[in-house]
Amino acid sequence: MFLSDFTSDSLMKNFLIQTKEFVTWTQQNEREFFEEVMKINFFFPLAFLGTFFIIAPYGKFQWNSLSLPGKFAWFFQESFSLITFIYSFFIKDLFSITISTDATYTTTQIILASFWIIHYTNRVIIHTYRAPNIAPINLLIVLIAIFYNILNGYVNARWISIFGRDNYLYDENGQDIYKTPRFILGVFIFLVGMMINIHHDNILFSLRNNLDKSTTKSESVKVITNPNSPSSRYVIPNGGLFNYIACPHYFGEIIEWIGFVIATWYSYPAVLFLMAAIANLVPRAKTNLDWYREKFGDMYPKNRKAIVPFVW
Ligand SMILES: NC(=O)c1ccc[n+]([C@@H]2O[C@H](COP(=O)([O-])OP(=O)(O)OC[C@H]3O[C@@H](n4cnc5c(N)ncnc54)[C@H](OP(=O)(O)O)[C@@H]3O)[C@@H](O)[C@H]2O)c1
Repeated sequence: MFLSDFTSDSLMKNFLIQTKEFVTWTQQNEREFFEEVMKINFFFPLAFLGTFFIIAPYGKFQWNSLSLPGKFAWFFQESFSLITFIYSFFIKDLFSITISTDATYTTTQIILASFWIIHYTNRVIIHTYRAPNIAPINLLIVLIAIFYNILNGYVNARWISIFGRDNYLYDENGQDIYKTPRFILGVFIFLVGMMINIHHDNILFSLRNNLDKSTTKSESVKVITNPNSPSSRYVIPNGGLFNYIACPHYFGEIIEWIGFVIATWYSYPAVLFLMAAIANLVPRAKTNLDWYREKFGDMYPKNRKAIVPFVW
């Protein structure tokens, strides 16, 4: 007993010493720490491309085992993007938890940070609240999402607040870039993408609500029920870009982050985030299209593509 106590004690001591050394090193070398995190981030787009072959187990494709309740899991995993971003943007020294009262942010920085915060406030709070139901999400997906959201939130916030500021967020005359045509174009594209994304998320949310209303209880509406989540009932979505593609909400999301890259021209954390979103959502859209065709057969319009209208 004495021996095991001694061992766990020294292990704990060792762990605390290592943690302290890591914190001190990071405080003194944050730029290097940031670059190391970027190297890890680089692998996410490649890993997400794997979902062309292995379907991520959530939503229509969730497995029965090892899943967490959908709304809780979604809120929990996505909140890391919001919290990490806000923390990393406003905290000057990552581990001392002091908000720098003397920090001044440029208009460009405020606009970019606001976009991130608005996007994720919608994704975390409004999306979760408005969705009639979210199918259970596999624990593995939740853990990967949390890990990714922490790294992605950190690098994007730190790039905007510190590391990208001097070289990218001022023009050659030392002026804040928010009045430049490229920034305005990026902002415009971001907002259009956000509108497309939210509008089509809302159409999806309305489908189940409408199913419960007597007006749409018609024999011509085919309903597929998820065997692992009986409240997850699916019908063919119509209206807006759903008339052309299976996943216009994903299309809008990608347009948003293209706008963000153009506005920051170019934040490499934002470029990697865009690549990760494409690598994640393009295979998912194709999987959705195949699923609609398989489940609804001839009822699903043949002209619809996966994610790019008329093209793919
Ligand atoms: N940036 C990124 O990399 C990234 C990654 C993932 C998601 N997102 C964004 O997060 C949002 C949600 O994504 P998601 O993958 O969860 O979308 P999704 O699988 O299409 O599901 C969205 C919601 O609609 C419901 N739903 C889907 N198809 C339906 C149908 N045919 N009939 C009735 N209800 C239906 C789903 O219910 P069930 O849950 O019960 O299936 C869920 O509540 C999107 O706006 C997306 O752009 C972004």
